[in-house]
Amino acid sequence: MIAVPAQVHIREMTLQDLPEVLEIDQASFPVPWPERSYRFELIENPAAQLFVAESSDDSESQVVGFIGYWLIGDEVHISTFAIHPDYRMQGIGELMLVRALRTARASGAAVATLEVRVSNWPAIHLYEKLGFEQVGKRAGYYRDNGEDALLMTLHSLREGVEQ
Ligand SMILES: CC(C)(COP(=O)(O)OP(=O)(O)OC[C@H]1O[C@@H](n2cnc3c(N)ncnc32)[C@H](O)[C@@H]1OP(=O)(O)O)[C@@H](O)C(=O)NCCC(=O)NCCS
Repeated sequence: MIAVPAQVHIREMTLQDLPEVLEIDQASFPVPWPERSYRFELIENPAAQLFVAESSDDSESQVVGFIGYWLIGDEVHISTFAIHPDYRMQGIGELMLVRALRTARASGAAVATLEVRVSNWPAIHLYEKLGFEQVGKRAGYYRDNGEDALLMTLHSLREGVEQ
């Protein structure tokens, strides 16, 4: 059971979300995606799916996180994923990842893969909590600091997202 703020819901990302998405991306990653990458994913890449988490009350709503994946054959690959720094550790990331994996599974995915910086313990804990396993490393994968990427795989998508 994931305890998240009741007013948070997940929906598909649109072009209108990009200013807020870019702000979260820039606050979350040393090498954020440029706007043109999001536009390409949203408009031109048939393999891509992108979702946002939106927090709303009576007067306003705010994008507080996003996640993207590519679905190629029966493999879903997490392409991007971040929660606004002020909204972390409230269960929103887990909710988003589970929702993305369930959607991918409904579209035919059987296995999930991703890369994560070896130093990124918050993300690695989340992935392991959902059943991802460390299956390898890509040496020097991240160009900004030469950090290694950990390759993680969820072999049985069903087990990881039946919550
Ligand atoms: C990784 C990230 C998306 C997690 O989002 P979040 O909403 O804070 O995560 P949740 O609150 O849903 O936490 C779910 C689980 O993740 C793990 N986790 C999250 N933050 C953690 C932290 N700071 N330390 C250790 N474990 C953490 C825990 O296992 C947690 O489950 P638990 O609370 O039952 O122990 C968020 O930290 C983030 O945006 N980081 C910067 C961007 C990033 O690294 N993206 C991933 C790139 S691969």
